[in-house]
Amino acid sequence: MTTSSFQRMATLRLPVKSCFVLLVFITVAVLVIYYVSNTHLQLTKDWLSKVSNNIHSYYIKQPVRIVPPPPRHHQTVKQGTLNGTNVARTTTDSNVTEVLRKSTSSVPSIRYHEAYPRNYHFILDEPNICKQEKPFLVLMVPVAPHELEARKAIRSTWGNVSVVRGKTVRVLFSLGRPGIKDAEAQQRQLNLESKKYHDLIQSDFLDTYLNLTIKTMVIMDWLATRCPNATYAMKVDSDMFLNVENLMSMLLASNTPKENYMTGMVMWNRPVIRDPASKWYVPKKLYDKDYYPTYLLGMGYVFSNDLPKKLVEASKEIKPFNIEDAYIGACLDKLHIVPSNPPDASKFKAYFNGKYDRKEFQRVITTILSSPQQLIDFWQDSRRPT
Ligand SMILES: *[C@@H]1O[C@H](CO)[C@@H](O)[C@H](O)[C@H]1NC(C)=O
Ligand SMILES: *[C@@H]1O[C@H](CO)[C@@H](O)[C@H](O)[C@H]1NC(C)=O
Ligand SMILES: *[C@@H]1O[C@H](CO)[C@@H](O)[C@H](O)[C@H]1NC(C)=O
Ligand SMILES: *[C@@H]1O[C@H](CO)[C@@H](O)[C@H](O)[C@H]1NC(C)=O
Repeated sequence: MTTSSFQRMATLRLPVKSCFVLLVFITVAVLVIYYVSNTHLQLTKDWLSKVSNNIHSYYIKQPVRIVPPPPRHHQTVKQGTLNGTNVARTTTDSNVTEVLRKSTSSVPSIRYHEAYPRNYHFILDEPNICKQEKPFLVLMVPVAPHELEARKAIRSTWGNVSVVRGKTVRVLFSLGRPGIKDAEAQQRQLNLESKKYHDLIQSDFLDTYLNLTIKTMVIMDWLATRCPNATYAMKVDSDMFLNVENLMSMLLASNTPKENYMTGMVMWNRPVIRDPASKWYVPKKLYDKDYYPTYLLGMGYVFSNDLPKKLVEASKEIKPFNIEDAYIGACLDKLHIVPSNPPDASKFKAYFNGKYDRKEFQRVITTILSSPQQLIDFWQDSRRPT
């Protein structure tokens, strides 16, 4: 072998060796990237499912809703348009639904026959109040038996109304039966309260969180049977600030429909929560679609009073599930009625950022508050003459 041929071989061997090293390096790199991205994907999935749950809880009903909306909420809520107006909309990431779909488990089930309002009987009632007062607008406030402070706060603030813009308004509280603990004492207190204020509508289902759909349907049944001549009604939660004047202005506008009309904060494309650990968990056997039909957020929705009767009828054919506002959405869907955007969607606020702004409270229709005392304070201040 000549020196030159040896040299040629050496120069040839070098690229072969570096190629091999490069190949090993690439393989390792690919493996690392694969591993990392997989873990990362998993993290992203978990994170997405958490966020999705958060949004849901945030919107539907939070045990404590004082805190300003978390920043991540903004990251995942996109603006969408529905019927010309901007409405809040969540991302419809398939990862989220997939993670949620995985979960199956048992939760106290809500049986079909349990939701139909006529299975229940009124313990406390005001059967003639609408005949006597002929309200234009009825405000129905679901409240738990023990929430006396909330009722007091409403009675002394936005509930202390009888005529607004020349129209009669009636506020009524809707309750179920108190639970086992102190039930008798609570019932005695409710009986006294009813005698004094004549504003309690109590039915004999057990008042629990999972029975909120029953409560809502009892409200609808009451409106349909006891108050069919009212023009509008609203279901409004007891922790809400309500500006009745602004609500009335909206309802009295000439273009506000008087039939088949329901408005509030429009929720659309909301995924059904399949995580059994969530408060908003709905098992497939109760509701099997992945998304709810368009519905209005339960904190406060307004409707023409022809709807309660139609909703009760429709509900006979729709298996109840524990998300009361989405259930009303399912009933509306059955009736082929689409919830409407309010003329100004920003007036139905699903949060309170913690900073009281007088002008804002004078502008809105609803805002969520954190305590009955806050309602009293803000209401008094917002009404104070300038
Ligand atoms: C919403 O849709 C209804 C019927 O589809 C229509 O009459 C109405 O003008 C629409 N509103 C807006 C704001 O586009
Ligand atoms: C509703 O109006 C009709 C017709 O005006 C009347 O006959 C009926 O008694 C009213 N019902 C109630 C509950 O006020
Ligand atoms: C309701 O308002 C009237 C004045 O308009 C007031 O006299 C009354 O005390 C108020 N009721 C409650 C429960 O605060
Ligand atoms: C709902 O109310 C019914 C009727 O009172 C009761 O039997 C049932 O236990 C309640 N369900 C829940 C989950 O509280």
